[in-house]
Amino acid sequence: MDTSPVGIFDSGMGGASLLRDALELLPNENYIFYGDNANAPYGDRSEEEILALTSAAADLLVGHGVKALVLACNTATSASINVLRKKLEVPVVSIEPAIKPACERPGEGKVFMLATAATTKLARYKALQARMPDPDRVINVGISGIVARVERGEIGPGCFDDILDAYLEPYFGMTADAVVLGCTHYIFPAEAIELYFKEHFAGECRLYDGNRATVRQLGRVLARNGLLNPGGESRVEFFTSGDSAVFEPVFRQLLNTPIYVPERVSQDPKPEK
Ligand code: DGL
Repeated sequence: MDTSPVGIFDSGMGGASLLRDALELLPNENYIFYGDNANAPYGDRSEEEILALTSAAADLLVGHGVKALVLACNTATSASINVLRKKLEVPVVSIEPAIKPACERPGEGKVFMLATAATTKLARYKALQARMPDPDRVINVGISGIVARVERGEIGPGCFDDILDAYLEPYFGMTADAVVLGCTHYIFPAEAIELYFKEHFAGECRLYDGNRATVRQLGRVLARNGLLNPGGESRVEFFTSGDSAVFEPVFRQLLNTPIYVPERVSQDPKPEK
């Protein structure tokens, strides 16, 4: 048993979608959320930059006494999970694009995997795709632009049609059995993305994301290591590397639950974009 908080990290607001599930599935835990909003989006950065930023963020959360770390960022996972698992003494749980359950669903149509540009290019994700029974069924769409809008709290229907048009027009009319939300930011506008797919594609367009599986894995890892909190109360602390006056209201809007916000925390290094 351990009453220390669980650290949840994302480049920005996307990880709040995983935190929302964690509050539901593991309500006895307390959480520290750290969004590296000053440096988001990570998805347009190099692997080296993403690794450096994620590593610094992990150090920051470990310095705050977290008993386990969750990478609630597919991009950070792809660039850094192996290094972090070797370097950190706390267990690290991480999200990955949920192509496995999507590909297990029978169908003749395609599985569209929407993620950041970085995730689709990184070796870890490519290896995951190669392990699928029919890797060619997966169409990877690495998108720039959605993250920045979600960081501003824009998630409603129609908010992304211009961006989605730019990436998906070549595929219009195809059958989409599944749409994998392979970036945690994309989970907030899930409804907008589903509506868009249903308008432009045939097939069920069933949405998949990795949040709940990751939270269940967190629960197993905490239990296995004797780290479960018997009596926490879902307390959430929010840290950001950005301007908390800007990001805290968006975090509250997206998470939609009361949170505790400490003073601004700055993080280094901060490579220029
Ligand atoms: N939320 C992150 C993910 O799941 C990435 C967002 C970003 O580009 O910073 O991949």
